[in-house]
Amino acid sequence: SPACKRSLSTDADGIDKVAVIGAGQMGIGISYVAAKTAGVDVLISDRSAQQITKGLQFVDTLLGKEVKKGKMNNEEANRVRSRIKAASENGLQDGEFAEVDLVVEAVSENLAVKQTIFSQLATHLPPHAILASNTSSISLSTLAASAIDQKTGQSRARQVVGFHFFNPVPVMKLVELIPALQTDPSVLDTARGFAERMGKTVTQSADTPGFISNRLLMPFINEAIIALETGVATKEDIDTTLKLGMNHPMGPLTLADFIGLDTCLSIMEVLMRETGDSKYRPSVLLGRMVSAGYLGKKSGQGFYTYT
Ligand code: CAA
Repeated sequence: SPACKRSLSTDADGIDKVAVIGAGQMGIGISYVAAKTAGVDVLISDRSAQQITKGLQFVDTLLGKEVKKGKMNNEEANRVRSRIKAASENGLQDGEFAEVDLVVEAVSENLAVKQTIFSQLATHLPPHAILASNTSSISLSTLAASAIDQKTGQSRARQVVGFHFFNPVPVMKLVELIPALQTDPSVLDTARGFAERMGKTVTQSADTPGFISNRLLMPFINEAIIALETGVATKEDIDTTLKLGMNHPMGPLTLADFIGLDTCLSIMEVLMRETGDSKYRPSVLLGRMVSAGYLGKKSGQGFYTYT
């Protein structure tokens, strides 16, 4: 039984092996901290092998910095690095995930893509595995409903939980934990414990649009963009006001570029659509920037230019 597998494991929470789906910035950050701080084996999967290679190079860079700063010796860095492995292309179907205790899905914010992934995970992961999503705005209850084992028709919705990290994952101390309506309380407890093993502080939010973090952050960023488009001030003065007046590490327009303007827009659209409340209307300028391909830091151009 699921409970039996957990109690037989070496760690109290039974999580020894983690899989991460998506080798983007978030997925790599999660893999790195899981291997380094929680000390588990990590299997990274991405539809692009090149993306995994790039991600693993970034892990090498991060570990190199730790060694240089004297926070780790070479041996420790090698040990952490050896815990992180790339999954092969058909790894899920080929049984490569048979020992996985927890999977964190961290692909882009697309409902259809995530639903497909949850149905595949429910089909191929061992029965006890927890299926977590790093979604920043999609409903966990909706994702949980798609966690159906394609072979048996059985639902695994009870094992789905929201596990929301912040960028850069190695630096930001928070994990927002979101139970779906279907989530089993023991799954929530295990996920909370594992986030703590990763060195994070946990807050818990109901499964409502944007959870706690983006319900507050995105309207703030959106309002800064509206201030810019209506000529209240220059982008520099908007950012400097929040940075120096409120001690924010980054002004809201710099932060929007850092997060990605497409991500900011898609979260505002979710807030607007799911609440029907016009206070969440995305700024016209934000929509235009995304249409133009000005996505922020990752595209080289957002409110600011990056070289
Ligand atoms: N990976 C690992 N470590 C990183 C890093 C990365 N990508 N970026 C920076 N760091 C580390 C640096 O190595 C440095 O470590 P040491 O102190 O050990 O030397 C430390 O972070 C500070 O970095 P810097 O000195 O280069 O720069 P900084 O002091 O300006 O800090 C920052 C950079 C941490 C990003 C800071 O500006 C900050 O906190 N900004 C706000 C970030 C934020 O709000 N993130 C949340 C976005 S919302 C989200 O992610 C979720 C969502 O759903 C949209």
